[in-house]
Amino acid sequence: MPDDEGWWRTAVIYQVYVRSFADGNGDGVGDLAGVRARLGYLKSLGVDALWFNPWYRSPLADGGYDVQDYRDIDPRFGTLAEAEQLIAEALALGIRTIIDIVPNHISDRHEWFQGALAAGPGSAERERFWFHPGRGADGAGIPTNWVSSFQGETWTRTQNPDGTPGEWYLHLFTPEQPDLNWNHPDVRREHEDILRFWFDRGVAGVRIDSAALPVKDPALPDLPAGGAPTTGHPHIDRDELHDIYREWRAVADEYDGERVLVGEVWLDDAERFARYLRPGEMHTAFNFGFMTQPWSARAMRDSITRTLAEHAPVGAPATWVLSNHDVTRPATRYGRADSSFAFDRKRFGTPTDAARGLARARAAALLVAALPGSLYIYQGDELGLPEVEVPRDAIEDPMHFRSGGVDPGRDGCRVPLPWSGEATPYGFGGAPWMPQPDDWASLTVEAQESDAASTLHLYRSAIRLRRALPEFGDGAFTWLEADADVLAFRRGDGVLSITNLGSTAVPLPAHHRILLASGPLDDGLPPDTTAWLALLPTAAPAATTT
Ligand code: GLC
Repeated sequence: MPDDEGWWRTAVIYQVYVRSFADGNGDGVGDLAGVRARLGYLKSLGVDALWFNPWYRSPLADGGYDVQDYRDIDPRFGTLAEAEQLIAEALALGIRTIIDIVPNHISDRHEWFQGALAAGPGSAERERFWFHPGRGADGAGIPTNWVSSFQGETWTRTQNPDGTPGEWYLHLFTPEQPDLNWNHPDVRREHEDILRFWFDRGVAGVRIDSAALPVKDPALPDLPAGGAPTTGHPHIDRDELHDIYREWRAVADEYDGERVLVGEVWLDDAERFARYLRPGEMHTAFNFGFMTQPWSARAMRDSITRTLAEHAPVGAPATWVLSNHDVTRPATRYGRADSSFAFDRKRFGTPTDAARGLARARAAALLVAALPGSLYIYQGDELGLPEVEVPRDAIEDPMHFRSGGVDPGRDGCRVPLPWSGEATPYGFGGAPWMPQPDDWASLTVEAQESDAASTLHLYRSAIRLRRALPEFGDGAFTWLEADADVLAFRRGDGVLSITNLGSTAVPLPAHHRILLASGPLDDGLPPDTTAWLALLPTAAPAATTT
């Protein structure tokens, strides 16, 4: 493992949703062979690390977030030997690998859960989960009123071997994802072993799924009427979680080359969020606060300021995330009348202005790439892909079904990538497992390679400049006075980033030269555009404008 200290503080991390990245064996499902064949593309994009969504053996009831065997790769994606090769080949190109660990739950097909079902009530096997009798004389009442992150019930009733109704088990997500009992020593030991298994294979870090959920109050209290308790939620952000992550950090620190813990921590309370990033805990956590903001200078400015302020006391770098495999693509989101993001508001047929959305997504990409901290890019955002309205009969996401068909779910950002050609499968491989739109020919990697103004070229230039200029990354950040609809800030002494979120062009501030712009700069800085300006003669490798 290379030893560039603090690599994770400024890294550009590309998220690979394996199933939809590239299909190497022609069966229509993305796989590790497809990723290995495209490592050159990722190298030319300039990213420092790849984060893979779960690639383990799984029934894919929730896209792989239902892990059946952590020590094997799903056969649809490849083999463990291929994963080892991929990790090594990427590293040889200077690209680290981050994998996804899902501590809150496992698949109902996992041998532990199957064993627990077979062993029956009162067994040691059931202690690793949250099995519980139902309420009432016949046990038909659900044990708690907890609310699922996927809507619907959080408990499912089992059947006894004789066919009579049995105990219930807890699942904060789908019934195929039973929650683990983190008070059980087996659960802790098993996850530390899993971390070592993958660190031994050269992974540089883990993304921790649903990191604020694993620990439950063993008394299983009901939530008060109206939702969340003021203190001590029974299954969100419990203090005991920090012991677990301190243990994980100790495991990571046994290895060379700074193996990192990255938390998926959805919490509104900034102080509680920052607790996960204290010394000896996680290295970084996803900054969803910024991602959910609408296209508004005030909202984004406040969010950036808040983010930097909440990270400062614990000494952790911020992360900047415009989207991921759970979230509406920015090119679609920013073109909507309400451009903020919230899970509970996703609806079919929400109109968007595609051209405006793309211009803003490009401007946002430069905005976040200029901020201090690490940067996440979800596959396909570098092509400006829109959210797809997947036909109802092709939807697989349980979020859709558990909403009673109201929420389109998350498949619209998980459509297989277009690489080349004029029609589906656009060079992806075999006939894609999820249909691609008919109008993606101009969005393929091939088409964008030959267009200097493409979103792909914009991302490449931004990542190259970010790496080349010492002002970027972890260095000094200063807001500059600007119009209410403009975000302008300086990095170090040499670089200025300015974004126009208003509806009329604004003059560019005094500068030495233009480093990069997300769109044409005919008349000052037009609406929905970001420009990076060099303030000093020294701060510029190669000027690029689009
Ligand atoms: C996280 C993942 C999401 C998954 C859920 C349950 O939020 O990002 O895709 O469905 O956890 O594991």
